[in-house]
Amino acid sequence: MTPSLVLTGLSAATMAAPVGGYGLIADAAIVLTGDRIAWVGPRADLPTAQKGLERRELGGRLVTPALIDCHTHIVHGGNRAREFEMRLEGASYEQIARAGGGIVSTVAATRAASEADLLASALPRVDALIAQGVAVIEVKSGYGLDLDTELKMLRVARALGRLRPVRIVTSFLGAHAIPAGTDADSYIDGVCLPTLRAAHAEGLVDAVDGFCEGIAFDTAQIGRVFEAARALGLPVKLHAEQLSHGGGTALAARHGALSADHVEYATDADARALAKAGTVAVLLPGAFYTIHETQAPPVQAFRAHGVPMAVATDWNPGSSPLGSILLAMNMACTLFRLTPAEALAGTTRHAARALGLADCGMIAPGLRADLAIWNVTDPAELSCGIGINPLYQRIFGGVA
Ligand code: NIG
Ligand code: FE
Repeated sequence: MTPSLVLTGLSAATMAAPVGGYGLIADAAIVLTGDRIAWVGPRADLPTAQKGLERRELGGRLVTPALIDCHTHIVHGGNRAREFEMRLEGASYEQIARAGGGIVSTVAATRAASEADLLASALPRVDALIAQGVAVIEVKSGYGLDLDTELKMLRVARALGRLRPVRIVTSFLGAHAIPAGTDADSYIDGVCLPTLRAAHAEGLVDAVDGFCEGIAFDTAQIGRVFEAARALGLPVKLHAEQLSHGGGTALAARHGALSADHVEYATDADARALAKAGTVAVLLPGAFYTIHETQAPPVQAFRAHGVPMAVATDWNPGSSPLGSILLAMNMACTLFRLTPAEALAGTTRHAARALGLADCGMIAPGLRADLAIWNVTDPAELSCGIGINPLYQRIFGGVA
Protein backbone atom coordinates (compact mmCIF):
# COMPACT_ATOMS: atom_id res chain seq x y z
CA MET A 1 0.00 0.00 0.00
CA THR A 2 1.27 3.50 -0.79
CA PRO A 3 1.92 5.29 2.49
CA SER A 4 -0.19 8.37 3.12
CA LEU A 5 0.33 11.31 5.40
CA VAL A 6 -2.00 14.12 6.32
CA LEU A 7 -0.44 17.49 7.18
CA THR A 8 -2.67 19.76 9.27
CA GLY A 9 -2.35 22.80 11.49
CA LEU A 10 -0.95 24.87 8.65
CA SER A 11 -1.76 27.55 6.18
CA ALA A 12 -0.97 26.71 2.57
CA ALA A 13 0.28 29.13 -0.06
CA THR A 14 -0.65 26.80 -2.91
CA MET A 15 0.43 29.25 -5.64
CA ALA A 16 -2.37 27.66 -7.68
CA ALA A 17 -3.81 31.12 -7.99
CA PRO A 18 -4.44 33.75 -10.62
CA VAL A 19 -1.44 35.98 -11.29
CA GLY A 20 -0.52 38.00 -8.24
CA GLY A 21 -1.96 35.72 -5.59
CA TYR A 22 -0.70 33.15 -3.13
CA GLY A 23 -3.71 30.84 -3.43
CA LEU A 24 -3.70 30.95 0.34
CA ILE A 25 -5.78 28.45 2.32
CA ALA A 26 -5.96 29.20 6.05
CA ASP A 27 -6.30 26.20 8.38
CA ALA A 28 -5.53 23.84 5.53
CA ALA A 29 -4.82 20.14 5.23
CA ILE A 30 -2.54 18.49 2.67
CA VAL A 31 -2.69 14.76 1.95
CA LEU A 32 0.45 13.12 0.54
CA THR A 33 0.38 9.70 -1.08
CA GLY A 34 3.80 8.35 -1.93
CA ASP A 35 5.70 11.04 -3.81
CA ARG A 36 2.54 12.94 -4.84
CA ILE A 37 0.09 15.42 -3.40
CA ALA A 38 -3.27 13.64 -3.19
CA TRP A 39 -5.43 16.40 -1.78
CA VAL A 40 -5.27 19.99 -0.50
CA GLY A 41 -8.02 22.16 0.93
CA PRO A 42 -9.52 23.60 4.10
CA ARG A 43 -9.09 21.14 6.97
CA ALA A 44 -12.85 21.20 7.52
CA ASP A 45 -13.34 19.75 4.03
CA LEU A 46 -10.90 16.86 4.48
CA PRO A 47 -12.59 13.84 2.90
CA THR A 48 -13.66 11.35 5.58
CA ALA A 49 -11.65 8.59 3.86
CA GLN A 50 -8.48 10.56 4.72
CA LYS A 51 -9.36 11.18 8.31
CA GLY A 52 -7.89 7.97 9.74
CA LEU A 53 -4.45 8.42 8.14
CA GLU A 54 -1.22 9.32 9.93
CA ARG A 55 -1.26 13.01 10.81
CA ARG A 56 1.33 15.69 11.41
CA GLU A 57 0.33 18.92 13.08
CA LEU A 58 2.47 21.83 11.92
CA GLY A 59 1.65 24.33 14.65
CA GLY A 60 0.19 26.98 12.37
CA ARG A 61 3.23 27.13 10.06
CA LEU A 62 3.11 28.22 6.43
CA VAL A 63 3.56 25.55 3.75
CA THR A 64 4.56 26.49 0.20
CA PRO A 65 5.61 24.47 -2.80
CA ALA A 66 9.33 23.67 -2.42
CA LEU A 67 11.36 26.41 -4.11
CA ILE A 68 12.93 26.11 -7.55
CA ASP A 69 16.15 27.87 -8.61
CA CYS A 70 15.70 27.98 -12.39
CA HIS A 71 19.00 29.68 -13.35
CA THR A 72 22.39 28.78 -11.84
CA HIS A 73 26.01 28.24 -12.81
CA ILE A 74 26.90 26.34 -9.60
CA VAL A 75 29.34 23.96 -11.30
CA HIS A 76 32.51 26.00 -11.82
CA GLY A 77 36.13 26.19 -10.79
CA GLY A 78 37.92 29.06 -9.06
CA ASN A 79 36.60 32.37 -7.85
CA ARG A 80 36.53 35.94 -9.14
CA ALA A 81 36.81 37.96 -5.95
CA ARG A 82 39.48 40.11 -7.61
CA GLU A 83 36.85 41.30 -10.12
CA PHE A 84 34.68 42.39 -7.21
CA GLU A 85 37.56 44.61 -6.14
CA MET A 86 38.13 45.83 -9.70
CA ARG A 87 34.50 46.90 -10.03
CA LEU A 88 34.81 48.82 -6.78
CA GLU A 89 37.84 50.52 -8.31
CA GLY A 90 35.65 51.60 -11.24
CA ALA A 91 35.96 48.87 -13.90
CA SER A 92 32.71 47.65 -15.47
CA TYR A 93 31.71 43.99 -15.98
CA GLU A 94 32.10 44.52 -19.71
CA GLN A 95 35.56 46.12 -19.39
CA ILE A 96 36.74 43.24 -17.19
CA ALA A 97 35.42 40.71 -19.73
CA ARG A 98 37.08 42.49 -22.65
CA ALA A 99 40.37 42.53 -20.72
CA GLY A 100 40.35 38.72 -20.44
CA GLY A 101 38.66 38.46 -17.05
CA GLY A 102 35.04 37.53 -16.61
CA ILE A 103 33.63 34.28 -17.95
CA VAL A 104 36.84 33.21 -19.73
CA SER A 105 38.81 33.39 -16.48
CA THR A 106 36.37 30.93 -14.91
CA VAL A 107 36.81 28.81 -18.04
CA ALA A 108 40.52 28.45 -17.29
CA ALA A 109 39.82 27.43 -13.68
CA THR A 110 37.08 25.01 -14.71
CA ARG A 111 39.24 23.36 -17.37
CA ALA A 112 41.99 22.90 -14.78
CA ALA A 113 39.67 21.32 -12.19
CA SER A 114 39.11 17.57 -12.10
CA GLU A 115 35.59 16.15 -12.19
CA ALA A 116 36.01 15.25 -8.50
CA ASP A 117 37.12 18.82 -7.66
CA LEU A 118 34.15 20.32 -9.47
CA LEU A 119 31.78 17.95 -7.70
CA ALA A 120 33.31 18.68 -4.30
CA SER A 121 32.98 22.43 -4.79
CA ALA A 122 29.42 22.25 -6.16
CA LEU A 123 27.96 20.02 -3.43
CA PRO A 124 28.04 22.67 -0.67
CA ARG A 125 26.27 25.07 -3.05
CA VAL A 126 23.54 22.50 -3.58
CA ASP A 127 23.34 21.96 0.16
CA ALA A 128 22.98 25.70 0.77
CA LEU A 129 20.01 25.82 -1.61
CA ILE A 130 18.44 22.66 -0.15
CA ALA A 131 18.71 24.28 3.28
CA GLN A 132 16.44 27.04 1.98
CA GLY A 133 13.74 24.66 0.79
CA VAL A 134 14.87 24.28 -2.81
CA ALA A 135 13.87 21.01 -4.52
CA VAL A 136 14.80 21.72 -8.16
CA ILE A 137 17.99 23.39 -9.39
CA GLU A 138 18.84 24.23 -12.96
CA VAL A 139 22.59 23.93 -13.65
CA LYS A 140 24.32 25.26 -16.75
CA SER A 141 27.52 24.29 -18.49
CA GLY A 142 29.38 27.11 -20.26
CA TYR A 143 32.67 27.36 -18.41
CA GLY A 144 34.31 24.72 -20.58
CA LEU A 145 33.91 25.99 -24.12
CA ASP A 146 35.59 22.79 -25.28
CA LEU A 147 34.19 19.31 -25.66
CA ASP A 148 35.87 17.68 -22.67
CA THR A 149 35.15 20.42 -20.16
CA GLU A 150 31.54 21.01 -21.21
CA LEU A 151 30.85 17.27 -20.84
CA LYS A 152 32.71 17.23 -17.52
CA MET A 153 30.52 20.04 -16.17
CA LEU A 154 27.31 18.36 -17.27
CA ARG A 155 28.35 15.01 -15.79
CA VAL A 156 29.02 16.76 -12.50
CA ALA A 157 25.59 18.39 -12.69
CA ARG A 158 23.94 14.99 -13.18
CA ALA A 159 25.99 13.56 -10.29
CA LEU A 160 24.65 16.28 -7.97
CA GLY A 161 21.14 14.93 -8.52
CA ARG A 162 22.26 11.40 -7.65
CA LEU A 163 24.10 12.46 -4.50
CA ARG A 164 21.50 14.79 -3.04
CA PRO A 165 17.68 14.71 -2.72
CA VAL A 166 17.16 17.37 -5.35
CA ARG A 167 16.14 17.38 -9.00
CA ILE A 168 18.80 18.79 -11.31
CA VAL A 169 17.80 20.15 -14.70
CA THR A 170 20.74 20.81 -17.03
CA SER A 171 21.22 23.48 -19.68
CA PHE A 172 23.96 23.30 -22.29
CA LEU A 173 25.51 26.79 -22.44
CA GLY A 174 28.28 26.24 -24.96
CA ALA A 175 27.47 29.66 -26.45
CA HIS A 176 28.50 31.52 -23.30
CA ALA A 177 31.74 33.26 -24.32
CA ILE A 178 34.26 33.23 -27.13
CA PRO A 179 37.38 31.34 -26.06
CA ALA A 180 40.74 33.00 -26.72
CA GLY A 181 42.35 32.28 -30.09
CA THR A 182 39.20 31.90 -32.16
CA ASP A 183 36.27 33.93 -33.47
CA ALA A 184 32.61 33.61 -32.63
CA ASP A 185 31.52 31.95 -35.89
CA SER A 186 34.30 29.38 -35.96
CA TYR A 187 33.69 28.59 -32.31
CA ILE A 188 29.93 28.09 -32.79
CA ASP A 189 30.25 25.89 -35.85
CA GLY A 190 33.48 24.08 -35.01
CA VAL A 191 33.15 23.53 -31.26
CA CYS A 192 29.81 24.53 -29.75
CA LEU A 193 27.47 22.63 -32.08
CA PRO A 194 29.49 19.37 -32.19
CA THR A 195 29.78 19.54 -28.38
CA LEU A 196 26.03 20.01 -28.04
CA ARG A 197 25.43 16.91 -30.16
CA ALA A 198 27.92 14.87 -28.13
CA ALA A 199 26.45 16.02 -24.81
CA HIS A 200 22.94 15.24 -26.02
CA ALA A 201 24.05 11.77 -27.16
CA GLU A 202 25.24 11.13 -23.58
CA GLY A 203 21.86 12.19 -22.19
CA LEU A 204 23.39 15.20 -20.45
CA VAL A 205 21.25 17.99 -21.88
CA ASP A 206 17.73 19.00 -20.82
CA ALA A 207 17.73 22.41 -22.55
CA VAL A 208 19.99 24.68 -24.60
CA ASP A 209 21.01 28.17 -23.48
CA GLY A 210 23.16 30.98 -24.90
CA PHE A 211 24.46 34.47 -24.13
CA CYS A 212 23.28 37.01 -26.67
CA GLU A 213 25.28 40.18 -26.04
CA GLY A 214 27.92 42.47 -27.54
CA ILE A 215 30.62 40.69 -25.55
CA ALA A 216 29.32 37.24 -26.53
CA PHE A 217 27.18 36.09 -29.50
CA ASP A 218 24.81 37.85 -31.88
CA THR A 219 21.32 36.75 -32.85
CA ALA A 220 22.50 34.99 -36.04
CA GLN A 221 24.99 32.89 -34.08
CA ILE A 222 22.48 32.09 -31.32
CA GLY A 223 19.93 31.32 -34.05
CA ARG A 224 22.23 28.55 -35.34
CA VAL A 225 22.48 27.09 -31.84
CA PHE A 226 18.70 27.19 -31.50
CA GLU A 227 18.25 25.46 -34.88
CA ALA A 228 20.60 22.69 -33.73
CA ALA A 229 18.62 22.37 -30.48
CA ARG A 230 15.39 22.11 -32.43
CA ALA A 231 16.87 19.35 -34.60
CA LEU A 232 17.67 17.43 -31.41
CA GLY A 233 14.22 18.07 -29.94
CA LEU A 234 15.61 20.19 -27.09
CA PRO A 235 13.94 23.30 -25.64
CA VAL A 236 15.84 26.59 -25.66
CA LYS A 237 16.33 29.59 -23.38
CA LEU A 238 18.58 32.63 -23.55
CA HIS A 239 20.61 35.16 -21.54
CA ALA A 240 19.17 38.19 -23.30
CA GLU A 241 19.17 41.97 -23.02
CA GLN A 242 21.38 41.95 -19.91
CA LEU A 243 23.84 44.76 -20.72
CA SER A 244 22.30 46.23 -23.87
CA HIS A 245 19.42 45.67 -26.30
CA GLY A 246 20.57 43.12 -28.86
CA GLY A 247 17.40 41.41 -30.04
CA GLY A 248 17.86 38.23 -28.01
CA THR A 249 14.47 38.40 -26.34
CA ALA A 250 12.61 38.61 -29.66
CA LEU A 251 14.77 35.76 -31.00
CA ALA A 252 13.95 33.64 -27.95
CA ALA A 253 10.24 34.35 -28.39
CA ARG A 254 10.41 33.44 -32.10
CA HIS A 255 11.90 30.09 -31.12
CA GLY A 256 9.24 29.47 -28.46
CA ALA A 257 11.91 29.54 -25.75
CA LEU A 258 11.13 28.36 -22.24
CA SER A 259 12.62 31.58 -20.88
CA ALA A 260 14.47 34.79 -21.61
CA ASP A 261 16.75 35.61 -18.69
CA HIS A 262 18.05 38.92 -17.26
CA VAL A 263 16.03 41.03 -19.77
CA GLU A 264 16.92 44.38 -18.17
CA TYR A 265 16.98 46.09 -21.58
CA ALA A 266 13.85 44.37 -22.95
CA THR A 267 11.29 46.70 -24.51
CA ASP A 268 7.52 46.82 -24.48
CA ALA A 269 7.52 45.06 -27.86
CA ASP A 270 9.78 42.35 -26.40
CA ALA A 271 7.33 41.90 -23.51
CA ARG A 272 4.48 41.50 -26.00
CA ALA A 273 6.48 38.90 -27.94
CA LEU A 274 7.29 36.95 -24.76
CA ALA A 275 3.63 36.93 -23.74
CA LYS A 276 2.55 35.70 -27.17
CA ALA A 277 5.15 32.93 -27.14
CA GLY A 278 4.39 31.91 -23.54
CA THR A 279 8.06 32.51 -22.68
CA VAL A 280 8.93 33.20 -19.03
CA ALA A 281 11.01 36.29 -18.14
CA VAL A 282 13.59 35.13 -15.58
CA LEU A 283 14.67 38.04 -13.37
CA LEU A 284 18.16 37.83 -11.88
CA PRO A 285 18.53 40.64 -9.35
CA GLY A 286 21.77 39.18 -7.97
CA ALA A 287 23.57 40.01 -11.23
CA PHE A 288 21.93 43.44 -11.46
CA TYR A 289 23.14 44.18 -7.93
CA THR A 290 26.63 42.73 -8.30
CA ILE A 291 27.62 44.42 -11.53
CA HIS A 292 26.15 47.78 -10.49
CA GLU A 293 23.45 47.79 -13.17
CA THR A 294 21.11 50.74 -13.25
CA GLN A 295 18.52 49.63 -15.80
CA ALA A 296 15.86 47.47 -14.13
CA PRO A 297 13.83 45.00 -16.22
CA PRO A 298 10.48 46.31 -17.52
CA VAL A 299 8.38 44.65 -14.83
CA GLN A 300 5.40 46.88 -15.50
CA ALA A 301 5.36 45.86 -19.19
CA PHE A 302 5.69 42.19 -18.22
CA ARG A 303 2.70 42.59 -15.90
CA ALA A 304 0.68 44.53 -18.46
CA HIS A 305 1.20 41.90 -21.17
CA GLY A 306 0.87 38.90 -18.84
CA VAL A 307 4.45 37.63 -19.08
CA PRO A 308 5.13 35.11 -16.29
CA MET A 309 8.10 36.30 -14.22
CA ALA A 310 10.48 33.87 -12.51
CA VAL A 311 13.21 34.81 -10.04
CA ALA A 312 16.51 32.94 -9.67
CA THR A 313 19.95 33.31 -8.07
CA ASP A 314 22.08 33.11 -11.25
CA TRP A 315 24.66 31.76 -8.75
CA ASN A 316 28.03 32.10 -10.49
CA PRO A 317 31.49 33.28 -9.43
CA GLY A 318 31.43 36.56 -11.34
CA SER A 319 28.23 38.46 -11.99
CA SER A 320 26.15 36.89 -9.21
CA PRO A 321 27.94 35.13 -6.35
CA LEU A 322 24.54 34.78 -4.69
CA GLY A 323 23.88 31.57 -2.79
CA SER A 324 20.45 32.46 -1.48
CA ILE A 325 17.16 32.03 -3.31
CA LEU A 326 15.41 33.89 -0.47
CA LEU A 327 17.73 36.85 -0.92
CA ALA A 328 17.05 36.74 -4.68
CA MET A 329 13.33 37.08 -3.82
CA ASN A 330 14.05 39.97 -1.47
CA MET A 331 16.16 41.72 -4.11
CA ALA A 332 13.49 41.16 -6.79
CA CYS A 333 11.05 43.01 -4.53
CA THR A 334 13.33 45.83 -3.42
CA LEU A 335 15.31 46.38 -6.63
CA PHE A 336 12.68 45.46 -9.24
CA ARG A 337 9.50 46.20 -7.26
CA LEU A 338 7.98 42.75 -7.53
CA THR A 339 5.32 42.08 -4.95
CA PRO A 340 6.19 39.32 -2.45
CA ALA A 341 3.49 37.17 -4.07
CA GLU A 342 5.11 37.67 -7.48
CA ALA A 343 8.51 36.83 -5.99
CA LEU A 344 7.16 33.58 -4.51
CA ALA A 345 5.43 32.70 -7.79
CA GLY A 346 8.80 33.44 -9.38
CA THR A 347 10.56 30.74 -7.39
CA THR A 348 7.70 28.20 -7.58
CA ARG A 349 5.06 28.10 -10.29
CA HIS A 350 6.77 30.32 -12.84
CA ALA A 351 10.20 28.81 -12.17
CA ALA A 352 8.74 25.37 -12.92
CA ARG A 353 7.37 26.71 -16.17
CA ALA A 354 10.76 28.26 -17.03
CA LEU A 355 12.19 24.74 -16.80
CA GLY A 356 9.33 23.13 -18.73
CA LEU A 357 8.25 21.17 -15.64
CA ALA A 358 4.52 20.57 -15.25
CA ASP A 359 4.70 18.40 -12.12
CA CYS A 360 5.89 20.89 -9.50
CA GLY A 361 5.74 24.53 -8.43
CA MET A 362 2.25 24.44 -6.89
CA ILE A 363 0.46 22.58 -4.13
CA ALA A 364 -2.17 20.77 -6.17
CA PRO A 365 -3.42 17.18 -6.48
CA GLY A 366 -1.28 15.01 -8.74
CA LEU A 367 1.84 17.19 -8.48
CA ARG A 368 5.02 16.05 -6.76
CA ALA A 369 4.99 16.20 -2.97
CA ASP A 370 7.81 18.78 -2.90
CA LEU A 371 6.96 21.16 -0.07
CA ALA A 372 8.65 23.72 2.14
CA ILE A 373 7.41 24.26 5.69
CA TRP A 374 8.36 27.65 7.14
CA ASN A 375 8.55 29.19 10.59
CA VAL A 376 6.44 32.10 9.36
CA THR A 377 2.74 32.85 9.21
CA ASP A 378 2.61 35.56 6.51
CA PRO A 379 4.02 34.49 3.11
CA ALA A 380 5.39 38.02 2.57
CA GLU A 381 7.91 37.25 5.35
CA LEU A 382 9.78 34.99 2.92
CA SER A 383 10.68 37.98 0.74
CA CYS A 384 10.86 40.56 3.50
CA GLY A 385 13.73 39.03 5.50
CA ILE A 386 17.33 39.79 4.52
CA GLY A 387 19.80 37.01 5.26
CA ILE A 388 17.23 35.13 7.33
CA ASN A 389 16.35 31.51 6.67
CA PRO A 390 13.05 30.59 8.28
CA LEU A 391 12.87 27.06 6.81
CA TYR A 392 11.43 24.57 9.29
CA GLN A 393 11.47 21.49 7.07
CA ARG A 394 11.61 20.52 3.43
CA ILE A 395 9.69 17.58 1.97
CA PHE A 396 11.06 16.16 -1.28
CA GLY A 397 9.02 13.58 -3.18
CA GLY A 398 6.95 12.93 -0.06
CA VAL A 399 10.04 12.35 2.10
CA ALA A 400 10.85 14.76 4.93
O1 NIG B 1 24.13 34.94 -16.07
N1 NIG B 1 25.46 36.77 -18.53
C1 NIG B 1 26.16 35.82 -18.76
N2 NIG B 1 26.36 34.76 -17.97
C2 NIG B 1 26.39 34.81 -16.57
C3 NIG B 1 27.64 35.42 -16.12
C4 NIG B 1 28.57 34.42 -15.71
C5 NIG B 1 29.88 34.98 -15.23
O2 NIG B 1 30.07 36.21 -15.12
O3 NIG B 1 30.69 34.11 -14.97
C6 NIG B 1 25.19 35.51 -15.99
O4 NIG B 1 25.28 36.61 -15.44
FE1 FE C 1 23.46 33.23 -16.05
